This record gives sequence, structure tokens and C-alpha cells, in this order.
Amino acid sequence: MIDDFGRYVYGIAPQAEPAVELRALDQPVTLGAGSRSRHELIISTERGRHLVELLLCLPNTDRSPVFSCLNFNGNDDVLATFPIDLLLRNGYGLATVHADAFEPDRADGAAEGVRRILPDPPAEAPWGTIGVWAWGLSVVRRELANLPHIRSDQVIAIGHSRMGKAALWSAAQDQGFAAVISNAAGCSGDSLHTHRAEGTEDIAAITGRFGYWFTPGYADFADRDDELPVDQDELLASIAPRPVYVGSGSEDTWADPDGEFLAVRSARQRNGGSGPVGFHLRPGGHGLTAEDWRHYIAFCNTHVKRP
Ligand code: GCU
Repeated sequence: MIDDFGRYVYGIAPQAEPAVELRALDQPVTLGAGSRSRHELIISTERGRHLVELLLCLPNTDRSPVFSCLNFNGNDDVLATFPIDLLLRNGYGLATVHADAFEPDRADGAAEGVRRILPDPPAEAPWGTIGVWAWGLSVVRRELANLPHIRSDQVIAIGHSRMGKAALWSAAQDQGFAAVISNAAGCSGDSLHTHRAEGTEDIAAITGRFGYWFTPGYADFADRDDELPVDQDELLASIAPRPVYVGSGSEDTWADPDGEFLAVRSARQRNGGSGPVGFHLRPGGHGLTAEDWRHYIAFCNTHVKRP
């Protein structure tokens, strides 16, 4: 199943074992019920080096579970806009990297991203930008696992919208994630292609604007959504028995809240109850809100956090 998502949707990553080093850029600074520090990931291969800045916020507890996400607007924006103290007070850390630092979110972003120093992907289904982001999130997880203040068995992949698509694809491939949370990932993320409704995004729309996110062959399924050999409920189910959670907004028509709910319900049936698949529909539109975070914390308190 996961191979098929590579072949038809996100593309196949090259076999790459770069050297990765995580270097602290500053000393921890107090932040609410914890601290924050900046780090640099140095990824090296024989083709060159690629640097990525990582922001790490940790609670004042011994070893904590950590939410790990790629962000849209840079790490300073996360400091300004995420309810970080809510996470810290609940005993969770947050690790985040600007997605553009792995690869700029543009059709020609590959020339500047980490991809340029990695081996070439298989020609039959080369990866797109979501694949590169998913790979980057997995590199971050492996590095976090080496840090003493982090519960390496409790790193949770989380992402909003396009980063939710990347989080799901990353967690499907990387068994090291304890759980994954997909916030409004919508088309090609957490909603069913086979559920069609007025005003929702489909393969023609997403590949028309963001074809570079996917393997080139995905665009062949434009206006043939029903013929795609996989659907997103199967991606959700493939992560079991690890916990999966989908958060949705009632007015987020483009992401298709009904299609997200149906994907969750089908994933529960497909995985035969072997792992929890959580869901909420909150009032409002497209966004990752404090209310969403409260649901994710409650879910992880039940299904991920262990002493
Ligand atoms: C666009 C895109 C969506 C994506 C969203 C986002 O609306 O069509 O597929 O999820 O951007 O990332 O916010």
C-alpha cells in the first residue's frame, strides 16, 4: 500500500544515507513553562551540504513527548503564533522547521532544496516536494531521538494542510513516529478522493496549481479521481497500529470535512481496530487553532503519553 502511494501520488524517495549533525546555535532561553533553543541540522553527502534551522521548545520536565512539524512561515512565526505555552504546560515539547528550509515551496524549488545534494530518485516515479518535506521531517525525528530531554519513542508528527499531507506521508514511511496528526490536510492528504462535493479540491485542481508537490504521473489522474489505485483512507490505515488523528473545520469546504470524516471512518474499518483513528470537526475555517491543539493534546494524553 505504501509503495503504491509512492508510485502514484508522492513519488519515490532515493535511497539516501546522508551524514546528519545537529548543532546547538544558542543556549536555552526561558519560555513560559519551559525553554526554547535554536539548532542547526547539517546534512552532508558527497554532493554537498545543506543547512536547516530547527526550533526546539521543551517543558521543564525530565523527558518529554514532542510534537514535530514543518511550518509555513518560519520558526519566528511559530514562536509568535503557536500556543506553545499550552503545549509546555501539558508536558509536550515542540520541534519545528520551516518547510522551505528543506525545499522552497515553488515549482523550481528543487534547485535550492536538500534534494540537490541527494542521489537521483527512481526515474519511473520521482518524488515531489511533499516527498522531500516528508523525508525532512523523518530526518528531524531521527535527530530528536538522540537528544537527552526527549522521549524518542514519543515523537508525534503533526502538520497543517500541505504540511499535514507531508506529516502523513512521513509517518506512513517512518515507523519511528509514535503517532501522526493531520490538521485539515484535505485533498491528497486526509480526505477521500472518491467523495466528491461542490467546492472541494480534486486531483485536477491540486495538480494544476501544485503539480510539483507530487510525482509527475499523479497529474494523469486529473478528472479521473475514481481511477487512482489508492485512496487516502488507505494511507491513514497504513499507519496503524500507531495512533492517527484528523482535525477538520466545518467551513473548510476546500479540504472537504465530510470527505475527511469518511476517510477516518473507513480507515477505522480497514485497520480492524488495531489502532485509534481520532477525528474532530470544530466550527470555523481553514487553520490550526488553539482549540485544535487542545484536542490533539487530549488524544495524545490517552494514546501516546506514557510515563
Ligand atoms: C491550497 C491547496 C491545498 C493545501 C492548502 C494549504 O489551498 O490547494 O491542497 O492543503 O493550500 O496548504 O494551506
